[in-house]
Amino acid sequence: MQATSKEVLLRVSGLNKSYQSASGSLNILKDVDFVLYRGEFLAVVGESGAGKSTLLQVLGTLDDPDSGEAYLAEQGLFTLNQRERARLRNHSIGFVYQAHHLIPELNALENVMLPLLVRGKARKDAEQDAIDLLEKLGLKSRLSHVPAKLSGGEAQRVAVARALVGKPSLLLVDEPTGNLDEVTAQGVFQAMQLLCQQVGTAVIMVTHNMELARRVDRVLRLKKGKLIAADV
Ligand SMILES: Nc1ncnc2c1ncn2[C@@H]1O[C@H](COP(=O)(O)OP(=O)(O)O)[C@@H](O)[C@H]1O
Ligand SMILES: [Mg+2]
Repeated sequence: MQATSKEVLLRVSGLNKSYQSASGSLNILKDVDFVLYRGEFLAVVGESGAGKSTLLQVLGTLDDPDSGEAYLAEQGLFTLNQRERARLRNHSIGFVYQAHHLIPELNALENVMLPLLVRGKARKDAEQDAIDLLEKLGLKSRLSHVPAKLSGGEAQRVAVARALVGKPSLLLVDEPTGNLDEVTAQGVFQAMQLLCQQVGTAVIMVTHNMELARRVDRVLRLKKGKLIAADV
């Protein structure tokens, strides 16, 4: 369990998102309201096509809602311009997807250093931070491996390190263990949970894995465009 404070980190209200298709408008998110506390670990479950990935894309400022508001530590997300959004993502929001999306030409260490270099940190300091984190994740002997030379679980741990190296306040995670066997999935999840606890990062994790959903602070279900409390 996370060390959850009752300080609100993210406040989402009246969030609507639709997609236009040949057969008309698809309403994916319908007046979604919720709050996420600092350091809280939230899981979001729901059927395929329910809009879980859409929700994360919108909260991550990668896609625009039709209407609604979201405040991350008092910062309104949807009024930011593209440059401000990029800066916010670099400083405050980490992403982990089902596929690792590491840069194939860069080794594990370089992949993890990258977000720190982007924000202007000195190379030596970025390298030390990245090494420390990769060591914590049991990857000390994999620093110079390119992604193609890593196992699925190792690559996903590197992706977790890259997402957390900048100490974001929010981590958005979309089916992080979907490509992994159960034992490897548990290992990646545990490592991610522990690191988030240490950093104080709050998490929204979309998952189909009910074993994992049972081990977080709170579970919500996205159903018919609404986020509702879930029994797991
Ligand atoms: N860019 C898009 N254009 C049109 N429809 C989309 C787009 N992205 C997603 N959808 C549709 O929105 C619905 C929700 O998608 P998604 O958020 O990926 O669901 P989930 O992650 O819960 O499986 C799906 O029916 C999907 O086909
Ligand atoms: Mg999805």
